[in-house]
Amino acid sequence: MLKPGWVVYLRGNLGAGKTTLVRGILRAYGYDGRVKSPTYTLLESYVLSKFTLQHYDLYRMIDPREWLDAGFRDDCNATTLCLVEWPEKAEGLLPRPDVEIRLSVAGEGRTAHIEALSPDGRKEMQAWKEF
Ligand SMILES: Nc1ncnc2c1ncn2[C@@H]1O[C@H](COP(=O)(O)OP(=O)(O)OP(=O)(O)O)[C@@H](O)[C@H]1O
Ligand SMILES: [Mg+2]
Repeated sequence: MLKPGWVVYLRGNLGAGKTTLVRGILRAYGYDGRVKSPTYTLLESYVLSKFTLQHYDLYRMIDPREWLDAGFRDDCNATTLCLVEWPEKAEGLLPRPDVEIRLSVAGEGRTAHIEALSPDGRKEMQAWKEF
């Protein structure tokens, strides 16, 4: 149900599985290259056949203004799908999410709470549930 132009917040403690989920999403889009955590670079871009997926990890940001200084606002736009780990680090400056996914450890697996937060997100989520 994800699509370009969307912003997805990925929430959850350290090790909750956010990066692993992004890797799975990339695999689902046919990307079979290396997917590494953007822990130090803050952003990894993946050019897919139909759009570019931007994977942010803002954990190491100290000031929300770094989001603007790094030019991330321009990379996360109507043509890109933006998946953001640790969105709270840029609270107030990030675009609003279409979908929020909250992950938590559940034994050897993970639980995901998925919530649509924009009108378009709600519409797609409804269609997805009916499908
Ligand atoms: N669904 C899952 N089932 C089992 N193990 C998982 C799952 N998702 C992630 N893991 C394992 O949990 C560990 C941490 O995963 P991951 O790096 O994706 O977490 P993260 O939420 O991105 O952490 P961080 O906040 O540090 O970036 C990895 O060893 C990974 O293999
Ligand atoms: Mg991670």
